[in-house]
Amino acid sequence: MEKKYFIETFGCQMNVHDSEKIAGMLRDLGYVEGKTKSEADIIVFNTCCIRETAETKIMAKIGDTKALKRANPNLLVVVCGCMTQQKGMAELLKKRFPFLSLVIGTHNLEEMEEYIKEHNKKFRAVVWDNEKAIREDIKMYRTSDDNAWVNIMYGCNNFCTYCIVPYVRGRERSRKIEDIAQEVENLAKENKYKMVTLLGQNVNSYGNDFKDGTNFVTLLKRLCEIKGNFKISFMSSHPKDFSFELIDFIASHQDKMSINLHLPVQSGSDEILKRMNRRYTSAHYKELVDYIYKKIPNATLSTDIIVGFPGETEKDFEDTLDLVKYCKFASIFGFVYSKRQGTPASTFENQVSAKVKKERITRLFELEHSLQKETLKNYVGKTYDATIVKGDKGDELAKTHFNKLIRIDAGNYEIGREVSVLVEKLDNDLLYGKVVG
Ligand code: 5AD
Ligand code: SF4
Repeated sequence: MEKKYFIETFGCQMNVHDSEKIAGMLRDLGYVEGKTKSEADIIVFNTCCIRETAETKIMAKIGDTKALKRANPNLLVVVCGCMTQQKGMAELLKKRFPFLSLVIGTHNLEEMEEYIKEHNKKFRAVVWDNEKAIREDIKMYRTSDDNAWVNIMYGCNNFCTYCIVPYVRGRERSRKIEDIAQEVENLAKENKYKMVTLLGQNVNSYGNDFKDGTNFVTLLKRLCEIKGNFKISFMSSHPKDFSFELIDFIASHQDKMSINLHLPVQSGSDEILKRMNRRYTSAHYKELVDYIYKKIPNATLSTDIIVGFPGETEKDFEDTLDLVKYCKFASIFGFVYSKRQGTPASTFENQVSAKVKKERITRLFELEHSLQKETLKNYVGKTYDATIVKGDKGDELAKTHFNKLIRIDAGNYEIGREVSVLVEKLDNDLLYGKVVG
């Protein structure tokens, strides 16, 4: 009988892609994908620790596997990803969950195949303190349909004061342009990916570690030369490094570059941005947004916002709301500040109460909701790339790459087809348009 694996992934796209590498390694060992945990011979928890809520959820899920392990003593339970890289976490996991088989850190994830081969039923934790050279020989099993994730760099040097990522993902290391280009060329040959999404904690600082003038635009120029029926997008960006050169480049390569841009602002208050160590002002952010809309009128913007950062006053929060009103975001990912041990902000005075944080996140979402109408109005008269999808009533709709549904004259288009849609009107919060290409 074939052995089965089950991977449960938490957190960001970086982790989703890491799980594709884990699947690649497990398949190499002869495992096939299982549908449920109870039929699995190996369960892998690929974890996240960006907020406390994530950790609490993961701990509960790991605890739930105790019964499965009891029923099947040969079951392997592996925990890897950002959570395990925190100081003292491997010991804590061993204490709380003695039935675990393996705990693996972020820097040695790619050694998982070896650890599984060597496993001898005893608990083992291997968490390297530091990052090693980038490995280019990793097999992956891609699972996200028509989007292919491609790492362009690992780690983060920014040390935003609330963020645990630099402590668990190490310093910035960029992959070589030619290695990335080779991977994208192979993907293009497969001809099944509509989007290639470049991944990094801060893609805009790509190449800084080469110290030879290479930057993110240098990489994009090379990738845009690759022929194929796909577009390129990227995440995440940092406003301090998001250059006007990059905006010009995207504007002049819209045949290849996605124009849905994710640009996390975190706060609209300069005082808070300073204490977050973000190294830009709200005025600079607005300048970037203005330039994006000027050069790429159809661009859609999304952002991340943290409410309730230590010391955030009502006025600071209102500055954030004002910035949101200004930027016309297509979507906002709003988070309540969560204290992360070992980060500077966790020791800052004037931590905001849970009650105020909750009230502010509600107000942020209410504002987003009330601005939706304006945002939708803004789409009218513009043409967007979209994919034909099936609606609830079995009719066809066009779904833009920023996830808005547009009603079209149904009955004429095959599901999955890539089209251009001109948005003609907004009626009762619904968009209507026609396929123009
Ligand atoms: N608390 C709340 N949100 C956080 N983020 C990062 N660290 C924290 C934290 N300690 C958010 C940021 C980041 C997104 C991925 O998660 O907005 O952009
Ligand atoms: Fe965290 Fe800031 Fe690095 Fe993003 S740029 S991963 S928020 S430290």
